Amino acid sequence: MNIHVVILAAGKGTRMKSAQPKVLHRVAGQPLVERVLAAAAEVHPRTITLVVGHQAGTLTAALERHRGITFVVQEPQLGTAHALLTTEPALTGQTGTLVLLSGDVPLLTAETLASLVQHHQASGAAATVITAIVDNPRGYGRIVRDGERIARIVEEKDASPAERTIREINSGIYAFSLEGLFDAVRSIAAHNAQNEYYLPDLVAIYRDRGSIVETVTVSNADEIRGINSRGELAEVSRIVRNRKTAELMAAGVTIEDPATAYIDASVTIGADTILHPGISLEGHTTIGVGCEIHSGVRIVDSQIGDRVRILNHCVITNSTIADDASVGPFAHLRPETVLGAKARVGNFVELKKTVLGAGSKANHLAYLGDATIGEKVNIGAGTITCNYDGVNKNQTVIEDGAFVGSDSQLIAPVTIGKGAYVGSGSTIREHVPAGALAVSAGKQRTIEGWADERARTKK
Ligand code: UD1
Ligand code: CA
Repeated sequence: MNIHVVILAAGKGTRMKSAQPKVLHRVAGQPLVERVLAAAAEVHPRTITLVVGHQAGTLTAALERHRGITFVVQEPQLGTAHALLTTEPALTGQTGTLVLLSGDVPLLTAETLASLVQHHQASGAAATVITAIVDNPRGYGRIVRDGERIARIVEEKDASPAERTIREINSGIYAFSLEGLFDAVRSIAAHNAQNEYYLPDLVAIYRDRGSIVETVTVSNADEIRGINSRGELAEVSRIVRNRKTAELMAAGVTIEDPATAYIDASVTIGADTILHPGISLEGHTTIGVGCEIHSGVRIVDSQIGDRVRILNHCVITNSTIADDASVGPFAHLRPETVLGAKARVGNFVELKKTVLGAGSKANHLAYLGDATIGEKVNIGAGTITCNYDGVNKNQTVIEDGAFVGSDSQLIAPVTIGKGAYVGSGSTIREHVPAGALAVSAGKQRTIEGWADERARTKK
């Protein structure tokens, strides 16, 4: 097929009003440019060249993990035609088809790209433009036709009132034959409202020379939406989220209010799971079947088993929860938390780097950090693992069947043996052997009549 992809991402993105490069802004959790790169990969290009300029360092650093991208710096940024010209040295000697993508058009599908390439190659065109017919063409270049054929593209700022009424728009995505491409692009002038070198001007240049220019019109115009502002970013995110919630509902997930379900594309959810309004499921999160997730829950990069109940307002990050467990309301599961089957974590409980074994409970007000807790353990209200001595993080081990009374502090490193009891209000600094009872609170003193005495002396 011999395809080369060029992605334009050097522009300042002025309308975003951001210190970040525009293409790193996220649509439904994924940077714009990552989506474009994923679509590009589907046409199996021989090379991928990314044109960077504004905030080039930040952008190249953010894309470091991608192998095989050639970065080309465009400085200054004089327009889309000028941007394409900067890739000429990187593509010297290459032949075939150049597919030009825009870093700010994130919804393009692999199927559309494949049909662009197919149509372009089959028609022997010098250039093929993806277009769409939209209700509101504002901000886009308009496709001016001469009969059936495309004649030229006029930018909104240069268009006559009559041209502005044209509803067929330029997607900014093209296929070009590499043969003679850069020479033709060099002949583009910057005589326009923005004094920029417009790549769409290539259409009229090719037509004047008698070269073939083709169009491929997408049926779903959403696919080629470009993002120039925060408003458009939110609209496009909504489109992506709607696709995701529709897919999940079709697969048997109940989503009570899809409009307030924020679910990244990378999340998987089993059938008969119920999602209440206002939840955020992010990153590489998997959720099993028959779960129920209540409002105000945020789950990031976590694995949740089957029939798990997560009550309101929990934050769960990088954690693993086994089948039939229950969490919340108001629980915080920090990274590397593992809950065993049927474990219960209740309100105002925080866990970090902690395993809470099968059937164990921490139902109220606790901090469990750097702890390994066995099965069927009861952690009383107000239990705190004192895991930090000011220098090191230390481990607490609580073995199967142990019972930790309320308001206890376990000063790590410390072990509570199998089936042992810790009396309420204890400060445990030493190992508690299996089956023992450890109590550290002092003997209670009771002073009879103290209150009356106090009242008398205060008069
Ligand atoms: C462009 C098209 C317009 C089309 C629209 C579709 C031009 C002149 N206009 O307009 O016909 O309808 O896209 O979304 O091409 N860029 C560079 N270097 C530059 C300028 C831009 O790399 O010097 C990059 C930008 O970062 C962006 C892309 O090219 O990723 C498009 O540029 P942008 O300024 O957003 O063009 P539009 O005004 O949207
Ligand atoms: Ca744009």
